[in-house]
Amino acid sequence: MSTYILMRILESIPSRYDRGIRILTLGKLDEVYDRLTSHIKKGQRVLDVGCGTGALALRAAKKGAKVKGIDINSRMLEIAERKAKELNLNENTEFIEMGVAELGEEKDESYDVVMSGLCFSELSDDELEFTLKEIRRILRNGGMLLVADEVVPESNVKRIVSWIVRFPFVLIAYILTQTTTKPVRNLKEKIERAGFKIELARWNKLGNFVEILARKAEQEGKYG
Ligand SMILES: C[S@@+](CC[C@H](N)C(=O)[O-])C[C@H]1O[C@@H](n2cnc3c(N)ncnc32)[C@H](O)[C@@H]1O
Repeated sequence: MSTYILMRILESIPSRYDRGIRILTLGKLDEVYDRLTSHIKKGQRVLDVGCGTGALALRAAKKGAKVKGIDINSRMLEIAERKAKELNLNENTEFIEMGVAELGEEKDESYDVVMSGLCFSELSDDELEFTLKEIRRILRNGGMLLVADEVVPESNVKRIVSWIVRFPFVLIAYILTQTTTKPVRNLKEKIERAGFKIELARWNKLGNFVEILARKAEQEGKYG
């Protein structure tokens, strides 16, 4: 899973993104996304933040949810749209070029589920704090947040091992794209602080990738 950093290279060639990520993660990301979207029900209003080529959004739409996918990369969105048409899911999906900074335009309590895969690690700390606060606002009471992303391991040993394993990939990605991802530190705590109750958190063996199911808590978060 440390090879996720190489997705930065794939993002610059969207036509290869799906196949590339499947090879890099040995199909494990598909399993993660199948598990996450298994919580989605027919008729739910779902937002996919940083939807890319629609891996999560299309899974949710297949389950009968009404899905909006947002992303800042128009070429990734074109692929998502094309896939939706091929799968006859275009009635249930819309893909919009929009960044997390524009989440303020979404109405209060207008979604049952907000999900995000491998996008939070591309945001700055301030952007992530803002995004979580906005997600809480646009979710209905008791609504669900589903996240899968790269994180900094909690234990010191795993942190060192993860750093060593990731380093060559970080270097390759940086040389080729001049960008990198930033595994999220204390993601679980950040989600709780934003006013969510964690119902499920599942880490990989190295502790550097987590899947989270959280629910909007009644009480407001510390971010207000
Ligand atoms: C690694 S890709 C993951 C795409 C998709 N969620 C998936 O799992 O296949 C991360 C995506 O986040 C998007 N992204 C990065 N920063 C963003 C922002 N500020 N607002 C919205 N999307 C963003 C990127 O354009 C990219 O498509």
